[in-house]
Amino acid sequence: MILLGIETSCDETAASLVADGRRILRSAVASQMNVHRAFRGVVPELASRAHAERINTVIEAALRGYSWKDVDGIGVTRGPGLVGCLLIGATTAQVLGRLRQVPVIGVNHLEGHLVAAQLEHRSLRPPFLGLIVSGGHTELHVYEKAGRYRRLGGTRDDAAGEAFDKIAYQLGLPFPGGPAIDRAARGGNPSTVAFPRAWMPGTWDFSFSGLKTSVINYLKGAGARRAATRDLAASVQEAIVDVLVTKTLNAAEEAGMRRVVVGGGVAANSRLRKAFVERAVPRRIRVYLPDRSFCTDNAAMVAAAAYHRLRSKTPLEKRLIVDPGLSLQSWKTA
Ligand code: KG4
Ligand code: ZN
Repeated sequence: MILLGIETSCDETAASLVADGRRILRSAVASQMNVHRAFRGVVPELASRAHAERINTVIEAALRGYSWKDVDGIGVTRGPGLVGCLLIGATTAQVLGRLRQVPVIGVNHLEGHLVAAQLEHRSLRPPFLGLIVSGGHTELHVYEKAGRYRRLGGTRDDAAGEAFDKIAYQLGLPFPGGPAIDRAARGGNPSTVAFPRAWMPGTWDFSFSGLKTSVINYLKGAGARRAATRDLAASVQEAIVDVLVTKTLNAAEEAGMRRVVVGGGVAANSRLRKAFVERAVPRRIRVYLPDRSFCTDNAAMVAAAAYHRLRSKTPLEKRLIVDPGLSLQSWKTA
């Protein structure tokens, strides 16, 4: 079964053709980084316009070498995300679905991030513990089987990616801050400043806003004597990674899971990837990470999530309604 995935929830216009939920035939992404860089954040109105301008070209690129006869359905992100952006994808998908007489499957973006690792690790099957770490989310879920999730916890304030982005700004690094800190931290000493870790004991929740405040206070206090940017970047990165890895592996053990799947833009972080593998091995837990290009927003993960939904035969919603605040729900209760 070949599905076309469409993703427009934030600042990447993406389309992809995926066979049987695991094999990527084509993938096209048009990044809007140049549109938003000067504003150091995604400007919703500009993002919707950019999606509208690019979506047709991106879908054509994803279909190159194939024809609509090959396409059995369309998966499209219906939330969470920026409402104007979601509407561009959803409207396009619905028009194409009608025109080509194929089903349109509304997909939860977070579910996409959780199944992205299966594009790389094709034999990976649930149950597993899933960590979603992106610009808007930091959440731990037990993925019991396709469409059945149990939420363990999530951030109470900033998402991990948001923390990277905001702290990078304080350090004078470019937007987006995650990749900038990742690059700047290379060769830096992560023990230079012992930035605080919010452990949130007794819960599987996270909190990263205190770290941001602590960096601001450090920079004010240190003035001209501040440590080198690479050492600060490495110290900040270590503080975020330490909490994410420690809590996720502890949660996996407590939930009796030997497999952990990580997804979302922050899963592209090189220190996070290394730390997960290093620290999981002695605990006999296997960590699955998507290829870096499928950590950040993409449409292959949307097509994959749509495939699992279609295969499950769980009835699809009667109407495709976008929901900017959509949470990861089990399909039965959706
Ligand atoms: O999943 P994503 O593309 O969009 C959302 O759904 O939010 O994630 C974007 C986030 C941004 O905050 C970005 O700074 C972060 O992922 N990110 C990284 C890295 N690459 C992207 N954070 C840390 N290290 C990276 N290498
Ligand atoms: Zn995302």
